[in-house]
Amino acid sequence: MNSRRAFFINTLTTASALAAAKSANIESRIGKKDWRGVTREDLPTPSMVIDIDLFEKNLNHMANHCKSVGLNFRGHVKIHKSVDIARRQASLGAIGVTVATEAEAELMSNSGIKGVLLTRQPAGKEKTNRVVAIAKRDPSFITIVDDLVMAEQLDEAAGAAKVRVNTVVDINAGLTRAGVEPGAKALAVAQDAAKRKNLNFMGLMAYSGGASHTKGWEARKAKSMKDIAGMLETAEMCKKAGLNVRIKTGGSTGTYNIDPGYLTELQAGSYMFMDTGYIKIGSKSGAEIYEDFAQSLTVLTTVIVRQHAGTATIDCGLKGVLKPTDTVKGRPDVRIENQGAEYGMLLWAAGDRDYKLGDKVELYPTHLDSSTHAYDRYYIAKGDNIVDAWPVMGRVGIPAQR
Ligand SMILES: Cc1ncc(COP(=O)(O)O)c(C=O)c1O
Repeated sequence: MNSRRAFFINTLTTASALAAAKSANIESRIGKKDWRGVTREDLPTPSMVIDIDLFEKNLNHMANHCKSVGLNFRGHVKIHKSVDIARRQASLGAIGVTVATEAEAELMSNSGIKGVLLTRQPAGKEKTNRVVAIAKRDPSFITIVDDLVMAEQLDEAAGAAKVRVNTVVDINAGLTRAGVEPGAKALAVAQDAAKRKNLNFMGLMAYSGGASHTKGWEARKAKSMKDIAGMLETAEMCKKAGLNVRIKTGGSTGTYNIDPGYLTELQAGSYMFMDTGYIKIGSKSGAEIYEDFAQSLTVLTTVIVRQHAGTATIDCGLKGVLKPTDTVKGRPDVRIENQGAEYGMLLWAAGDRDYKLGDKVELYPTHLDSSTHAYDRYYIAKGDNIVDAWPVMGRVGIPAQR
């Protein structure tokens, strides 16, 4: 073997040995925060990857927008479940976060995030007690109620714990899943909360989930206005009745440039990552694509079987929350099928940019909340290089201990 060839083989062997060592070492790299030389290629799959440049652009755009229109920002945690992300939002001026579950509330509050607003009422003793315990430790914590019974039970639990719980009344805004009907019924709950010794009435919430994904900005605006009109009317009724409505909260990624002027604070979450549904809702400019925010989150997968023309099997299926409505980064021609718990299929016109065994394929997820919930961490990528890993926490059924 001539020396040039020996050098070449040696270099290759060293490179693959290094790659193997890097993959095996990901866990210790996390502990040491030593990401030197680690690229997307080295990551275990399936895994979630955040493109940090796009992500920060999204975060900055939202923060700047809220500042410029005078809207407070309390971004929704259900999308990401990450303390690292909440801290970044706070550093850009967010007044707190919104959360869907007691576990998320505990996670955020116990991690030092101030201004946590629980957007699902804590019904039942177990939830009520957890919420009262958070309020006891964290005077900036707020919960919603939409029911006189809930207000009474929360008041009792708060009284027993000798704490006053900040309370916002949730008003139906088009979704039948939650919220008291606006008008007289909502006013009654607000008045009840306001007179209770152990509750501190702070205002109203109206989340129009139906507006968030309405296609076309004008149609979205019309839907959002229709859905939150009842809350705005109730706010006026509250004021006339002498109640101090300091907070009017709601809104989403789809309505962030519709809500200012109506709401005092915004709960948008998906804007930081975007998903395959949101990207199609259309911009204020009239563009069919929602151009305001970029798709910064992908699921990295590997082609593990290449037996048939025009199809490849990847290592991501139901457990990785693969959906036929996911899309492939850089390959809009590729269709996705689910093939069970650990398998997914890519389908394309055979012969046209065929995939090879071992190829890495990045997917844009469809439903962020359920996708991110399935993974332990986000790998943070700058270009191709991995620069950090942020844990996903606050899972359902796992109370975060202090
Ligand atoms: C109550 C509430 N507020 C805000 C949001 C955030 O909406 P988006 O992720 O569409 O910005 C959600 C999402 O489902 C929600 O349930």
